[in-house]
Amino acid sequence: MLKCKQFFLQIVLLLLAATVISAGEQQNSINYDESKVPEYILPDPLVLSDGTEVNETLWRRQHRGEILRLFEEHIYGKSPGRPSSMRFEVTSVAKDALGGKATRKEVSVYFTGRKDDQKMSILIYLPNGRARPVPTFLALNFYGNHTIHKDPDITLPKSWVRNEKKFGITENRATEASRGVRSHRWPVERILDRGYALATIYYGDISPDFAKGLKNGVHSIYYKPGQTKPAPHEWGSIAAWAWGLSRAMDYLETDDDIDHKKVIVMGHSRLGKTALWAGAQDERFAIAISNESGCGGAALSRRRFGETVKQINTNFPHWFCGNFERYNNKEDELPVDQHMLIALIAPRPVYIASAADDLWADPRGEFLAAKHADAVYRLLGTDGLAADKMPGLHQPVTSTIGYHIREGKHDVTEYDWEKYMDFADIHLAQNRKQK
Ligand code: GCU
Repeated sequence: MLKCKQFFLQIVLLLLAATVISAGEQQNSINYDESKVPEYILPDPLVLSDGTEVNETLWRRQHRGEILRLFEEHIYGKSPGRPSSMRFEVTSVAKDALGGKATRKEVSVYFTGRKDDQKMSILIYLPNGRARPVPTFLALNFYGNHTIHKDPDITLPKSWVRNEKKFGITENRATEASRGVRSHRWPVERILDRGYALATIYYGDISPDFAKGLKNGVHSIYYKPGQTKPAPHEWGSIAAWAWGLSRAMDYLETDDDIDHKKVIVMGHSRLGKTALWAGAQDERFAIAISNESGCGGAALSRRRFGETVKQINTNFPHWFCGNFERYNNKEDELPVDQHMLIALIAPRPVYIASAADDLWADPRGEFLAAKHADAVYRLLGTDGLAADKMPGLHQPVTSTIGYHIREGKHDVTEYDWEKYMDFADIHLAQNRKQK
């Protein structure tokens, strides 16, 4: 019996050692040293493969579409369009929410038109006492609409939620315990005071964020009989979340309280990647904002600094399309890099934000992608990015491509929000007097 126990213990120790070594190896293979960034050549968004230089007409008529298709085919996967039978239902309106400061609306989007099928819920806060329609920030959230504010009347999501003990989520179900747990990332009152509305959706309503979850979310509406996962060129989760943002935009266009020419799509981290992809594809978004989106978002993949293509495809195999895996450790073979994703948003304003301690997301790579999108922004007649070098901490750049890096870690802070609203004030040319 004792021998058996010792044997078992040895096996456990061996397994543990193996895990530590492989975790260590993985850690070592992540580069955080600027001097070790390999040399790389970025694809030029303004030169065709036969050497032809792209002028404004060629960009607008042809080349923009070609680059968009490369991102679809190789990175995010192709998404369907607007479902023809989709329906909206305003499920509640409270004109005296948040102590009278706001009107709160909740809207159900029934993707197939059927109430008992796939649906998402949009939570909207409109500032009271302001002329309508109002410009609006649209952003997905990670744990449910009820986590962004303590407001007791926000409806809890019914869809799958990631377990998080500190938020009181244990059985993949939202509970009362998580009301307001993420409010530090959502300065709702301040957004309203500055004259903006906020619309938010729980991203899991669109597609639950785990590899096998692609069976359950909106993907399932589109599978052919017997299909259980997307084909290698079809949409992964990021594309599905971005699709959900476009469906929210479909609703916002019908809402007279919302200035649908002034909808700003914003997102943090994986949802920052999503906001950029949504902004790139859907030209109805007036501004796109990426908060620390990193690899597969604003950061250049070829730098291989912090998170790499291989890391992200290994840890999150469902985020991108199957074809993206071809580029694991082969970043130089990518037909595009992320500066071209930013360029797809041109000439609409775009804001890229980094945090100094968030090396995993490669702040310099995020800045450089913004910088290398500048040529396209200038070709289309804007001032591009008004910074040659990476600015210091807390020195926001507010040209048509905006950028800041703040101190601190991976998060969304009030500083970030203030800068986004300053940027929106400038570029939507309104609200300034009312601050
Ligand atoms: C992980 C992942 C990042 C992602 C982040 C997030 O850190 O590696 O790519 O941006 O999660 O979404 O919080």
